[in-house]
Amino acid sequence: MMPEENPSATPAIPHQRRKRYAGKNPRRFEDKYKERDPQRYADTVAKVIASGKTPAGTHRPIMVAEILDALAPKPGDIAVDCTLGHGGHSQEILARIQPGGVLLGLDADPVELPKTEARLRALGFGAEAFIAKRSNFAGIAQALAAHGLAGADIVLADLGVSSMQIDDPARGFSVKLDGPLDMRMNPQRGQPASALLEKIGITALAALLDENADEPHAAALAAALAGKNFARTTALANAIRAALPAVKGDAATLSVRRVFQALRIAVNDEFSALDTLLRQLPACTKPGARIAILTFHSGEDRRVKKSFDAGLRAGIYATVSDGVIRSTAAEQNSNPRSAPAKLRWARRAP
Ligand SMILES: C[S@@+](CC[C@H](N)C(=O)[O-])C[C@H]1O[C@@H](n2cnc3c(N)ncnc32)[C@H](O)[C@@H]1O
Repeated sequence: MMPEENPSATPAIPHQRRKRYAGKNPRRFEDKYKERDPQRYADTVAKVIASGKTPAGTHRPIMVAEILDALAPKPGDIAVDCTLGHGGHSQEILARIQPGGVLLGLDADPVELPKTEARLRALGFGAEAFIAKRSNFAGIAQALAAHGLAGADIVLADLGVSSMQIDDPARGFSVKLDGPLDMRMNPQRGQPASALLEKIGITALAALLDENADEPHAAALAAALAGKNFARTTALANAIRAALPAVKGDAATLSVRRVFQALRIAVNDEFSALDTLLRQLPACTKPGARIAILTFHSGEDRRVKKSFDAGLRAGIYATVSDGVIRSTAAEQNSNPRSAPAKLRWARRAP
């Protein structure tokens, strides 16, 4: 009897073979399963890193030596990593605050956070040393209080999005990969970028592109994009290029990147979260605490500089970094994503 004639018979599901590894350099995120299983395919991962790329599903921490230098972690410290991401910085800090230290790792992203928690637990960091918490860092004070931590000796924030988020087309951050135009760090909250674009007016969009990304063609782009429905990242990228027919090559690509950045900042309310964090730092840190903030955009860096300078004048901070610290040429060569990073640090008065 054929399965269709007998409902209790197991339907004949054709056996599906896993797709073959797509050559030496698979292009699609879903095909990069070797990179996403570093334990089994360490050689592949090492080759990807040596070629100046970031293995799929991971994030290479930026300016680790400079950040450790600024944060000076020591055994027993209470640390807050406001942007846990893949946990690269946290992993280094955790190793240095033992014995007795605790690291509270915050991240808004409910998709990546459990993977990072599992990764750090597998490295041996138990619940007494490492707490992973899904939270916006604007809620740092509540997060510390919820875990009975009176204040931090160390605070790190490495702003923006992780490579895992950018490289996963389903998250909608990538200017290159086709995916839904989402861009939310927490896809369970707020509105996706597609909804924001559909609702926004021309004047407001022009202001947003200018304020969030210093986009020189803000007016023309706002006129072409505001109020329109773009469901996919590639549809938006194509519309940006079409709106700027006289802008060619790299200049057009830069405009695409800037529009995506501006929308991402707006969708996630990134400037307001940073302002709240900066305001709360004095109350959330202990005397002598060290703070390091890595920014990727002039709008972020301006806010950090202003806050640290004001804290210095008010005697809250004893010292702050003299200007910005940049990644070395060697790091920029090996990890181009480190090139725009700007590090500033502050040390609380004793
Ligand atoms: C650049 S990555 C951090 C990478 C991390 N330092 C590492 O070594 O893997 C930034 C992370 O911060 C998170 N994030 C950005 N803004 C946030 C906010 N306001 N509150 C909490 N998490 C945030 C993002 O979801 C992302 O995972």
